Amino acid sequence: MKREISRRNFLATSTGAVASVTLLGTSMFDARATLAVPSHVRRDLGGMSPTDTILLSYAKAIRAMKTLPNTNPLSWCYQAAIHGTLLSDHMTAWNTCHHYDRFFWPWHRMYLYWFERIIRKIADDQNWALPYWDYASPSQRMLPAPFRDSTSPLYVANRGPHWNDGTASLSPEDVHYSLVLQSFNAVNALIQQGVHASVHKKVCGLMGNTATAAQDPIFFVHHSNIDRLWDMWLAQGSAYANPLHDGTWKIPKFTFFNEDGHPVEMSACDVLRAQQQLGYSYEGEPPQASESCLELGGPPWTFSEKVLAQWPITNVEWTDKMFSFQIVLTDKLKEQIALVLIHKNQTLFLQLDQVDADNPPCLVWSVFVGLPGNASVDPQGASFVGTFALFGSSHESASAKFIFLINSAIAAMGTNTGVVAVKLIPHGALINGNSSPPDVESPVPIRRASLIVETKKTNKQH
Ligand code: C2O
Repeated sequence: MKREISRRNFLATSTGAVASVTLLGTSMFDARATLAVPSHVRRDLGGMSPTDTILLSYAKAIRAMKTLPNTNPLSWCYQAAIHGTLLSDHMTAWNTCHHYDRFFWPWHRMYLYWFERIIRKIADDQNWALPYWDYASPSQRMLPAPFRDSTSPLYVANRGPHWNDGTASLSPEDVHYSLVLQSFNAVNALIQQGVHASVHKKVCGLMGNTATAAQDPIFFVHHSNIDRLWDMWLAQGSAYANPLHDGTWKIPKFTFFNEDGHPVEMSACDVLRAQQQLGYSYEGEPPQASESCLELGGPPWTFSEKVLAQWPITNVEWTDKMFSFQIVLTDKLKEQIALVLIHKNQTLFLQLDQVDADNPPCLVWSVFVGLPGNASVDPQGASFVGTFALFGSSHESASAKFIFLINSAIAAMGTNTGVVAVKLIPHGALINGNSSPPDVESPVPIRRASLIVETKKTNKQH
């Protein structure tokens, strides 16, 4: 029902005049104006020939963008600086990426959209669309070959050891993700801290830091895949929805540049339906959900969070070694947890925060909850609850929170257990298929663990 309504609203407005409103030199984005744009398909990079036009046009555009002065919004430097930069000039829209917050998915979608239009124009290839790097596929765990060709503009030297010689690869844990949760905030956070951050911190080099990541052309094909996951999550049915009724999510506007070098503004509402609003879809994706911010009335449901308990994490050395700590459950907590586990609208998370990382290391942590004593770690087992990596500036990581869905891990232990072991295992890139030691320059304390319950409440009128 919900989807039919939003579709009708959309059709009613799409016949209106195509116009963009200019306000103080900034064009407000008008989704209707893009309907005339032919639709583009973002293709899977796997198996694409190095001489595929998509890759040739990408390389051609990067070469041309690198010749433009840094002050030109279409230059490679300026485009990367919108995401992040170490330069001290403060030009419009520089350093505006969003991580560790709920704009992660929408902000990066907008960024890719305008970047793609710029490439299209500079490469003079109206059919161009960003490919995506589908590393979940076991045959795509190495850096894609066209990005390793040192004669190509798709290459950068500054990557972690062995990525450019093709012997480094991502592990199954790095690229593990789940789209089962219905809460937008939770899934946006899990994708961001997990597979998204893991690929950044494994490839490392420029990709390892927000201030430099978008200088590496692989950034955009990585994010194309992350953006695809947003579509896939939504496409699972009407229970998977963006926070459409939440003003703090839908109202803020973000600034980018169009292919003519003019500033444009967009809000999350402008990027809900990739095909209809932005003119693109992903190769092989299911039909896109048709959500709209035009919906009236209150939200059909809301998610609320409650902290059940909190523990300081002390006396652990956060280095390149595996480490563990324990959380002790009182009888009252055990009862509360048992109730959460049988309540189908409640979800139990372990949260780690109060991060102190001046120099976020190039590694990924796999997290295990409730693994008994010396049991060996098994990423296929119930105690594996996910991965995280510290992708962000030290300023950002101070506010970073990492959450892990632990319903199954706790259920597997039995709710009578009073002591829950949490194990964190750091890992570097696989080299020739073998694990390599993680590289930590200074210890990375994460000082607090919390148990959080998220409750989905369905509102009466629905
Ligand atoms: Cu804003 Cu993957 O980064």
